[in-house]
Amino acid sequence: MTERETLHHAVSRGWREMGTLLVHLARDLPADARGTLVNQPPTRGSTVLFPTVADMNRNGARRYDHEVIYGAMGTPIQHELEAAIAAIEGARHAQIVSSGLAACTTPLLAFLGKNGHCLIPDSVYGPTRRFANTVLRRFGVDTTFYPPLTDAAGLRAMMRPNTQVVFAESPGSHTFEVQDVRMIADVAHEHGARLILDNTWGVGIFHPFEHGVDIAVQALTKYPSGHSDSIIGAISVADEQDWHVLRDTCIQLGQVAGPDDCWLTLRGLRTMGARLERQSRSAIDVALWLAGRPEVARVLHPALPSCPGHDVWRRDFSGASALFGVVFQPDYSQEAMIAMIDSLTLFGIGASWGGYESLVLPTTGGILRTCAAEAPGGPACRLHIGLENADDLIADLSAGLEMLTGAATYGD
Ligand SMILES: Cc1ncc(COP(=O)(O)O)c(C=O)c1O
Repeated sequence: MTERETLHHAVSRGWREMGTLLVHLARDLPADARGTLVNQPPTRGSTVLFPTVADMNRNGARRYDHEVIYGAMGTPIQHELEAAIAAIEGARHAQIVSSGLAACTTPLLAFLGKNGHCLIPDSVYGPTRRFANTVLRRFGVDTTFYPPLTDAAGLRAMMRPNTQVVFAESPGSHTFEVQDVRMIADVAHEHGARLILDNTWGVGIFHPFEHGVDIAVQALTKYPSGHSDSIIGAISVADEQDWHVLRDTCIQLGQVAGPDDCWLTLRGLRTMGARLERQSRSAIDVALWLAGRPEVARVLHPALPSCPGHDVWRRDFSGASALFGVVFQPDYSQEAMIAMIDSLTLFGIGASWGGYESLVLPTTGGILRTCAAEAPGGPACRLHIGLENADDLIADLSAGLEMLTGAATYGD
């Protein structure tokens, strides 16, 4: 096999393997409204009627059982999506919440308490960092940002007697360091802390609970919904006691998602394997092409040895998504890279990722790091590879790079 064929296999294997599961999961649930339809339609509702007051009074205990007891606690379409996500993540329970960010922040609120301490990787998604630095701080919770590739001794040195939560995000969605989640789980558990993982990049291709994760969160907004038209998140847990704590926190915060977003996400999930089988291969084609270009210093794709944490990716993941970083040679200025990005015709410029379309975003400068991190070395951007033909994307990037080299790009 050529290097390209080997990589195609490595990045798409997990997506191919999950195809049957994605088509069949959660479709056997009781679905009064569905009848013989293939799909559960969006189910709307607030009030749920009970035959007797005694029956209604049993709701307190039933709130952990994914039953329909009040609209804010989930309707059949939300519970069907919860069952699907739990199956994909290998969890006992999942809770759908209003956004990916809510999926990150809600378990932090659930498992951190007064005078607690939290460890968060320096590569974390920016709004999660802001939440720790604002809301958590206001409630007396201290956060230490740790180097995402620290070893066990380094992590142990940062644990405190009051460390209640260690957070991880692997790979970081801007800088792509792949974290050793198994090691992080061991250190967290030695100290009685829980490990929360943002598994948005690794949905379905990294099985968090097999690696010791206690709570896995997902921005379903990305690959599961897959069409850039909904905002939604999920939190999965393996332990029954943790489920009770999490479920109560979600109910107390009023965490719920709209039926249309649940429905769109379930619909997206059915084709996620097929989309990603193609997108992951196209991403490798584009990444390999970029890696061979003289303008490019480094490609931050977890399946390539040039990405920090690549060995951990090889050990732990059954595939790769289609989001990766590119670092240009230091000779090029940030302005020149931005002009190159502006010139692209097939890559949209915008936040988020995981849809069917390609996107690009500058990542130098705006991504806050507070630990001593290796600087990217040149201007950098993030690419999301969609369902377009990879050759067309490469042609678009090729024209962009010609512009980069032709323009007055060299610094002093
Ligand atoms: C890694 C990661 N986690 C969480 C989120 C938040 O998701 P949402 O946009 O649904 O709030 C994002 C969004 O970009 C993300 O990239």
